[in-house]
Amino acid sequence: MDKFLIQGGNKLEGEVRISGAKNAALPLLAAMILAETPMTLRNVPNLKDVNTLVKLIGGLGVTISYAGDTVISDASTLDNQFAPYELVKTMRASILVLGPLLARYGEAKVSLPGGCAIGSRPVDQHLKALEALGAQIEVENGYVHAKVDGRLKGGEVIFDMVTVGGTENILIAATLAEGVTTIRNAAREPEITDLAQMLIKMGAKIEGLDTDTLIVTGVEKLHGCEYAVVADRIETGSYLAAAAMTGGRVKTTHTDPALLECVLEKFEEMGAEVTRGDDWIELDMMGKRPKAVSFRTLPHPDFPTDMQAQLMAVNAIGRGFATISETIFENRFMHVPELSRMGANIQVEGNDAVVTGVDKLSAAPVMATDLRASFSLVLAALAAEGETLVDRIYHIDRGYEDIEAKLQSIGAQIKRVSE
Ligand code: EPZ
Repeated sequence: MDKFLIQGGNKLEGEVRISGAKNAALPLLAAMILAETPMTLRNVPNLKDVNTLVKLIGGLGVTISYAGDTVISDASTLDNQFAPYELVKTMRASILVLGPLLARYGEAKVSLPGGCAIGSRPVDQHLKALEALGAQIEVENGYVHAKVDGRLKGGEVIFDMVTVGGTENILIAATLAEGVTTIRNAAREPEITDLAQMLIKMGAKIEGLDTDTLIVTGVEKLHGCEYAVVADRIETGSYLAAAAMTGGRVKTTHTDPALLECVLEKFEEMGAEVTRGDDWIELDMMGKRPKAVSFRTLPHPDFPTDMQAQLMAVNAIGRGFATISETIFENRFMHVPELSRMGANIQVEGNDAVVTGVDKLSAAPVMATDLRASFSLVLAALAAEGETLVDRIYHIDRGYEDIEAKLQSIGAQIKRVSE
C-alpha cells in the first residue's frame, strides 16, 4: 500500500497548473451517454475515479477512449443498461449513469452506491426526483431497477435538501423528458453550471443556470459536441492552502477565481495577500503565520465542505482559535484524530470543531481516511517539524492528479513509498 514520506519545514513557492475538476468530469462523462453522435471531452483529469467511470461506461457498450486529457465517446453502440456493484462500490458517483440511461433507453439497473467514510450518502432524493418524472423505481438486492414506459414526462421536482448529485441526475434526465421540468432547491455548484453548459451545447434547453431553480424543456434527442471540463476549484484551494500553511507564495494557473471566491476571502481573513487574475490566483503568505478563522460549510456559493479539512489544517497552526461547523456531511471530521497525533489542539462537539492554533506541529505516522482529509494531512506534514509518513494515500489518488510532482515543483520534500 502506497505511503507518502514528507519532510516538513519548507516554504512552498512557485506555480501549479490546475487540472480539470473531478466533480465536473464525472457528471459530464455520464451525460455523454445521451449523445446520438460521437463527442469529445477535454481537460479531463487523470484520476482513479475518472478511470473507474470510463470503465463503467465502456461496460455499457459505449465506444469510449481516454488518452492524455481527452475522452472520446460514441454512445450509439451502447447495448446494456447495467452498472455492476463491483464498479459502483469503488466510485459512488457512478449513480450518475442512472438519469441518462433512464432518459435515453427507458431502463437502468444500477447498483446502490455504498456509503463512505464521511457519511451514509443516501440517494433517496435522486430516486424521488426521477419518480416525479414518471420513472417506476424498485430497490432490491442492493440495486436500483428503474424503468419508464415511453419517455420520462416533464414535471416539478423539489429537493428536500441541496444535493449536487441529485441535481445532476435529474438535470441530465430532464433534457430528454417530454415537456418542461422545473427543478427547485437545485444545487448551484459551478460543476452543475458546467454540466448545464455542455448539455446546452448538445442541444438541450435549460434556463436558470447558477440559480436554485432550473427549468428544462425536453427535446427529442441530443447530439455530440466538443467540450472542456471546468477547472478544479477544490484542487485550486488545496494548493493555495499549502502556501498559507508554510508561509509561502503559490500561483495556481488554468483556474478561475470566481469558482472559489468564498475560500479566497477566508485566506485574506487569515492575513494572506490574494491576487486574482483572469485564469490564475496567487496567494502570498509573506512568511507570516496565518490567523485562525472560523467558518461553516454550506452549499455554493458559501464555503465548500470539500475545503473544510484543508482549512482546518491551516487553522491548526494559526494564531488564536476558530470554530468550524460541518453542516453538509454527518461524519467529516475523520482528519481530527490524525491531526491531533501531530500535536493539533482540536475539540469536536457533534458537527462543530474548535481549533486552537499551536506554534508547531510535529511529525508522526498518520493515516488518510478519505479524499480531502488526506490532503489536510499532507498540509500538516508540510508544516510539521520532522518527517511524516502518511498511510493509505490511495484516497488522495482519487482526486488529486500528479500530486507529488505538483508539490515537488513548489519546493515540497515529498516522495511516494510502496511497502
Ligand atoms: C458531491 O457529492 C461531491 N462529489 C462531493 O465531493 C461534495 O462534498 C458534495 O457534492 C457536496 O458538495 C461529486 O461531485 C462526485 P450531495 P454528492 O448529494 O453529490 C445528503 C469530494 O471530496 N443527501 O450534495 O454525493 C448527503 O448525505 C466529494 O470531491 C441525501 O440525504 O453530495 C449529504 O449529507 C466528497 N439524499 C448532503 O445531502 C440524497 O439523495 C449533500 O450531498 C442525496 C444527498
